[in-house]
Amino acid sequence: MAILEVKGLVKNYNGVRALKGISFDLEEGEILGVIGPNGAGKTTLVNLISGIDKPTSGEIFFRGERVTGTPPYRMAQKGVARTFQHIQIFPEMTVLENVKAGLHTKGRSGFLACLLHLPGVTKEEDRTTHRALEVMELVGIRDKREWPAAALPYGDRKKVVIARALVSQPQVLMLDEPAGGLNEQETEEMGELIQKLKEMGITIMLIEHDMDLIMGICHRILVLHHGERIALGPPHRIQEDPQVVQAYLGEGF
Ligand SMILES: Nc1ncnc2c1ncn2[C@@H]1O[C@H](COP(=O)(O)OP(=O)(O)OP(=O)(O)O)[C@@H](O)[C@H]1O
Ligand SMILES: [Mg+2]
Repeated sequence: MAILEVKGLVKNYNGVRALKGISFDLEEGEILGVIGPNGAGKTTLVNLISGIDKPTSGEIFFRGERVTGTPPYRMAQKGVARTFQHIQIFPEMTVLENVKAGLHTKGRSGFLACLLHLPGVTKEEDRTTHRALEVMELVGIRDKREWPAAALPYGDRKKVVIARALVSQPQVLMLDEPAGGLNEQETEEMGELIQKLKEMGITIMLIEHDMDLIMGICHRILVLHHGERIALGPPHRIQEDPQVVQAYLGEGF
């Protein structure tokens, strides 16, 4: 069953046609890879689904409900989370605080209640911390919870942003180049983590340039090129698709 349906998505940025009518279904429980050369429209697609940006035209459905143009915090509340291609970290804050930053959307107490330290707030804070520590354990950064984020090596920063997306308990997680900048060993571990998330029941949309990772763990792969969908299918079919090979010629595919 499709957890997410994307129908004819178009995005124009002042004359740049970033997406030219993309349609696909994200099946519940799968890892869908999204690949394509630089500028293909991959991040734009995630921006539109997560609500950071509005499509020029086209529709997005989450569990059958039309969610086109729904703001990011509402999408997060519904269960759609994402990570950003360029790591956004608060260097002065601890690792734990960085992860908890992902839960603002779920807090029930209002701003004023927080300010006045009303009783409900402390409980909520405890719950938040508990959940943050759980996901930190899962991604392997719990032992560094009190470190200032600035002190973390690059590979661990990648884990922080995934943990931050996980605290909102997403049903769909969109990862924008989670292995970018990682070495071979770290990339392998990232693949194992993503598979673990899938086994926990999270549906994954994985944007990556690392073909070994993509081919190794994705059930299906969507290929974008110049804002168009040029292929969608299982890894072995994508690898031998002439249009895909052509798009990647000279790019080491
Ligand atoms: N906010 C924006 N304003 C103007 N143009 C944009 C904006 N965002 C994306 N674009 C353009 O849209 C096209 C698709 O960009 P996008 O970032 O989605 O590509 P990508 O597939 O994620 O590439 P990469 O692999 O380099 O991350 C590019 O031509 C890009 O310059
Ligand atoms: Mg991108």
